[in-house]
Order: sequence, then structure tokens, then C-alpha cells
Amino acid sequence: MKKIIGLTACVLLLMGWQQHRKSFFANDQLNTAQKMIQLALKSNTDSSKIPCTVDGDGKLKTVGLYDWRSGFFAGNIWYLYEFSKDKALKKEAERWTAALEPLQYFKDHHDLGFMVYCSYGNGYRITKNEKYKDIIVQAAKSLCTRFDSTTGCIKSWNQFKSWDENITYQFPVIIDNMMNLELLFFASEVTGDPYFKNIAITHANTTLKNHFRPDGSAYHVVMYNPVNGQVLAKKSAQGYADESAWSRGQAWALYGFASTYRLTKDARYLTQAIKVAKYLMNHPNLPADKVPFWDFNAGDPNFIPCSPNAAKYSTGIQPRDASAAAIIASALIELSDYVSPTERKSMRQFAKDILISLASPSYLAAPETNANFLLKHSVGSIPHGGEIDVPLVYADYYYLEALMRMLQNEKNKKW
Ligand code: GLY
Repeated sequence: MKKIIGLTACVLLLMGWQQHRKSFFANDQLNTAQKMIQLALKSNTDSSKIPCTVDGDGKLKTVGLYDWRSGFFAGNIWYLYEFSKDKALKKEAERWTAALEPLQYFKDHHDLGFMVYCSYGNGYRITKNEKYKDIIVQAAKSLCTRFDSTTGCIKSWNQFKSWDENITYQFPVIIDNMMNLELLFFASEVTGDPYFKNIAITHANTTLKNHFRPDGSAYHVVMYNPVNGQVLAKKSAQGYADESAWSRGQAWALYGFASTYRLTKDARYLTQAIKVAKYLMNHPNLPADKVPFWDFNAGDPNFIPCSPNAAKYSTGIQPRDASAAAIIASALIELSDYVSPTERKSMRQFAKDILISLASPSYLAAPETNANFLLKHSVGSIPHGGEIDVPLVYADYYYLEALMRMLQNEKNKKW
């Protein structure tokens, strides 16, 4: 009897220790991140200069209000305030968020979801500040001005010029646009007006129809004819080739359809998210540490590079994209809640493997280096010839989000 009690105590102790170890990981990384963001806030106090990446000398490069990446820095502070409950961080989150207020009337590109929902959206979720809610709803109205019922889409960019400069397309839609839909669902939820979510659903349905290949991978840009809604061409702006799988594009597709499933419970979105997950989790070109190269097909001779800069990467070692890895980790943690137990296990393990890689010195910067960004080794856009193997503020955002999701799951004993 004594032996059985002793053995049971040992097993319970071991289980408790394992649980503690797992919590230790997310907690530890978020504690480190908190210290690093404090350094970032100390070194740059001007909230009109929003940290984005580094220049060629490794110095901080900032962007202004209307850049698509403007909301991530405030989002990072909100996540770390949520984690730490540090009042000073709350003040900073409020200050960097307030600087974005004019965005609610911005209509010149589709990225308001990133810009407003990562900043004001997190701010509202955490503080329930009513002013934030009104700003988000106004931003949703602005985003809806880009919706067109003939194409069934929100227009991403005002134009897209082919890389050979021969054709200018008037209605480009990028897979990234799925990330802007949550803002619209939120607006419908808080106003009771289905107008916003109907637009989001129409956009998601059109994307589902036109953006995917049979293997589950997503095209980057689909060009529509605004006169009759027909698809004119499928291209890449940031991937290796028109027919290749740009890694961050796959990450946006995975995240966008997982979150749109959460918001609609439409099984078709879940099926697509699982298809994308399987595509990238089983891809033969995925490195062992699960941080993808910038494009799953980069350098593959079967693919024709889309631009002269992409062609420079037809041989040689391909840069990794830590931003894609972070988005995939965060999305898989969410998706794992909606799938079968076997898929759940493998998705959570995959997300954890990514986070362990990103938290290693290979990707996580030492404090006071990397212009105070957390992660190294992301890629902005190789075809545009910029931001190659650099830190990116949105890589940090999705890394923090994934850690927060992991922490929450640990607390709910889901891991
Ligand atoms: N939405 C642009 C990008 O992912 O680079």
C-alpha cells in the first residue's frame, strides 16, 4: 500500500513539474520580451516614428501612421501589458495607440485590420475603453468603402503593375487581406449591424474560390476585372514565383481562415485552414527547426522567378522568414482547438517546436541588440529587394501573440 501511495505521489510530482516546465517556457520568453520592449520604449519615445525594422547599418527604421505596419508596435505593448499588468506599459500602450487615431478615416489601402485591430482591437479587448470601440467601428466603415459587389472583394491595393511593367491591374486582392476581416466581424458584433460581417463573408467566399491551388497552397495576388468580376491573372508580389508558395502568404491564409472559422463556424473555412496547415507542416522544403525559408519553392528550377530580384535567389542559401514562422505558430495554436484529437496534438507540437526555435539564440536577439526587436531573420519582400534577413515588428507581434496563446492554454491545462 505504502509503495502505491509513494508511486502515485511521484507520478503526480512529475506531472506537476512537467506542467511547471511548460509554463516556465512561455512565461520566461514573455518576461524577456517585456525587458526588451522597455529598452525599445526608452530608445524611441516619439510615437509618430513607429519601429518597423532596421536599415542597412542595422539602425532602427521607423514608419509613419499610414504604413501597413503602424499598428503592430502598439499591439506588442498591449500584449506585454496584458502579460505583466505593468501600469507603465499600459500608459505606453495607450500613448502609442492614441497616436494612430486618424487611421479610422483612412481608405487608401486594405490594411486597416492590421493597423487598427492589432492596436485598438487589443486595447479594447484588454481595457474595454469605449472610445477604442468607436474608433474600430469607424475604421470598419472606412475599410468597407473598398468593397466591390461585382468582384465580391475588398480591394487590397489601388493598382498592381506586373513585374515586366506591361500590365497595370486595377483590382488586385492579396491573400493577406483575410487578416483584415476580424475588424469587420467585431464591428457587426458591437453595432448589431450585419453590414460589416456580410462584406467579410463575401470576401472570404471569393478568396476561397479563387486564391487556392489544389494542393492547399495560396496564390499571393489575384487580379479581378472590376467590370465583370472575372479573374484576370494570379501573380506574386512578394514570393519567388507566380506559381510558388510565398511563406508569409501561406501563414496569412492559415491564420485568416482559422480566425474566420472561429467568427462564422462555416466548416468550409475550417477545411481550408486545415488544408493549408497540412500543406506547410508536411512540406519537404521545411527546415528541421520549422522556421520556413522565405518561399517554400525558392530556388526550385521548376519555378520561374517573378522578378529580377527574385531571380537573384534562384541558387544559393535561401533566407529564413521568422515572421512566417511566428504567424504559423499563433494560427496553429488557434486552429488546434477546432480539429480532431490527433490533428490537435500534431498542430500544438508543431507550434511549440516553432516557438522553441524562435526562442533560441539563433532567432531571439540578445537584449540591446537588433535595434531592440525580439526576433532576427525575417524577410519583408525579396522581389522588391528590401528587408532581407532583418527584424520585423510584425514578426515580434505574432511571436508575442503565440506565446500569450500558449500561456493561456497552459493555464487551461490544454498542453
Ligand atoms: N501584408 C504584407 C506582407 O505580409 O508583407
